[in-house]
Amino acid sequence: MTTVTNDGDEIREIDGGAVPQRFARGWHCIGLSRDFNDGNPHPVNAFGTKLVVFADSEGKLNVLDAYCRHMGGDLSQGTVKGDSVACPFHDWRWGGNGKCTGIPYARRVPPLARTRTWPVLDQDGLLFVYHDPEGNPPPAEVTPPRIPGALADDWTDWKGFKQTVVHTNVRELIDNNVDMAHFFYVHGSFPTFFRNVFEGHVAAQYMNGVARDDIRPPARPGEPRVLGNSSAAAYYGPAFMIDELTYHYDGFDTEAVLLNCHYPIDADTFVLTYGVIVRYSEHLDPGAAAKLADGMSTFINKGFEQDVEIWRTKTRIDNPLLCEEDGPVYQLRRWYQQFYVDAADVTPDMTDRFEFELDTTKPVASWQREVEENLARRSARQG
Ligand code: FES
Ligand SMILES: [Fe+2]
Repeated sequence: MTTVTNDGDEIREIDGGAVPQRFARGWHCIGLSRDFNDGNPHPVNAFGTKLVVFADSEGKLNVLDAYCRHMGGDLSQGTVKGDSVACPFHDWRWGGNGKCTGIPYARRVPPLARTRTWPVLDQDGLLFVYHDPEGNPPPAEVTPPRIPGALADDWTDWKGFKQTVVHTNVRELIDNNVDMAHFFYVHGSFPTFFRNVFEGHVAAQYMNGVARDDIRPPARPGEPRVLGNSSAAAYYGPAFMIDELTYHYDGFDTEAVLLNCHYPIDADTFVLTYGVIVRYSEHLDPGAAAKLADGMSTFINKGFEQDVEIWRTKTRIDNPLLCEEDGPVYQLRRWYQQFYVDAADVTPDMTDRFEFELDTTKPVASWQREVEENLARRSARQG
């Protein structure tokens, strides 16, 4: 899209595109299982509607449409009675299989009384629901992978687990997967290696990075200093990313797993969820690992706030103007599109293997120079 000016130059125009009104097909993590397993029904606003999550007497978590098929009462405001959730309006009971299990004041339950159930997966301490506008059951091959460290004895528990409402369409978050340059300008670190691989329903990002010494606070004596990190992150489906992170300290490494997932509330709002686990080691006893995990989650929290600050004022753009050192934004969006079309309309260009490694030579040289200049300026001021 261009406009021609009086002097004959062409001006690039921004195509804002249309925000999709349907929601991605796939597994979405809606929180920590234990937070739902307290004997109460819980509301979850997601996919343009409202869900209710409740545990039956065995502790099995169920997800139903929150709005009662009787007269529209909100089941998430009701109570759990036995294996059913009871509506606060007239006490109709709904089982985890979506069937009406009883109406205390009625002679008989209407035989076809049934509401919508959502496929549920309770894994690694996380609760997932599967969304498919076509209503098909989840194919086995898109089941989120296990996280080996989650719930393991030699790793911390989920730390800094946080859910925060973000007021933009969720594609902004997905775009980050290929956006190398923003790490320097927004997040205070810079990649020295950056590679993406998309295949099937998985979109991976491999990155090695170093911190920016010109903006981080100087090390305190005795405090281990992170020299850099290596990260292997991947989206499994549209909304669930696992990031295997190794932090390189002077003399030792530390392993962590960052969870980065989301679910849409509506077309312009999503819930961002993240948390971290850290592995104990000879350098990191449980106390130190927990402290590091807390520190990391504060850091990660800050990182997402930096993204949110950008999203708060930027515009949606369907036709970004890219340079060679930008990642494969268009290919990533094509990959992401597979979750927004009917399963029968997924085309090979959305799922075929695609690999792209950025040449970081020029960006790294320019960023190192910028950091050195800033440091020199700082010491001149202090000197
Ligand atoms: S609306 Fe739920 S029982 Fe009547
Ligand atoms: Fe970011």
